[in-house]
Amino acid sequence: MTMHIVTARNLTKDYNSLRAVDGINFMISKGECFGFLGPNGAGKTTAMSMISCFMPPTSGVLKVFDINVTDNPSLIKSRTGVMPQEDNLDVELSVYENLIVYARYFDITGKEASRVVWELLEFVELREKSGVNIRKLSGGMKRKLILARALLNNPELVILDEPTTGLDPHTRHSVWDKLKHMKSLDTTLILTTHYMEEAENICDRVAIMDTGSIVTIDTPANLMKAHGGNLEKAYLNLTGKHLKEQVL
Ligand SMILES: Nc1ncnc2c1ncn2[C@@H]1O[C@H](COP(=O)(O)OP(=O)(O)OP(=O)(O)O)[C@@H](O)[C@H]1O
Ligand SMILES: [Mg+2]
Repeated sequence: MTMHIVTARNLTKDYNSLRAVDGINFMISKGECFGFLGPNGAGKTTAMSMISCFMPPTSGVLKVFDINVTDNPSLIKSRTGVMPQEDNLDVELSVYENLIVYARYFDITGKEASRVVWELLEFVELREKSGVNIRKLSGGMKRKLILARALLNNPELVILDEPTTGLDPHTRHSVWDKLKHMKSLDTTLILTTHYMEEAENICDRVAIMDTGSIVTIDTPANLMKAHGGNLEKAYLNLTGKHLKEQVL
């Protein structure tokens, strides 16, 4: 039987009078890469923030590792890695220090912390920048460092909010290789992206969201088949009805 890492039923989030996520339903299996696609403001980050236990749902059911997010958020967090949409590195610290300090949140200290940090710096090709202050990193280097930081606790589930936004094509492909490597180790991945090529390359299934709702959940291949062989066409046809005419 397939184990579900995430189960959402009628999941809803309100910010005061604004319903950002409006009763969505989905299940994510172990080892799957599940993508959220959708226009700016569709509710993707809000959905991911509830899965990572950053904020509680307003209503509905949300289970991660079969644990209700409101029952034991600390346990879920200890088994999850998060790459937020916004860069939130500590600009007072160096590359190495940023990871070491973050490792403490997971009770990883001393020689073990040092070993894990060097291993991850190697993984994201930032070893030679270890002593450099965050202010002296390029945008892409910061993204890669945040990816490394998300992996410090050897997570079973990694939540990546626009992991490759702003990266050059070489770096984007290198991040895709890393995500594929994680998948090969049976790590479950949830990501958002505005790059259709990324969804096509990495995601087993995608949920297309628009104004807080999921319009469809399917494999990129099926969506392409139904929309002229092009995932961007599928996306444009299924979202932003108020903005665009059909492109097919
Ligand atoms: N902290 C907040 N307080 C109030 N409203 C918020 C907050 N965060 C997001 N929103 C609103 O909720 C809606 C969904 O925002 P969200 O960040 O989830 O969208 P998104 O799909 O991630 O968009 P993007 O592609 O631009 O990152 C938007 O209307 C946004 O203005
Ligand atoms: Mg977002």
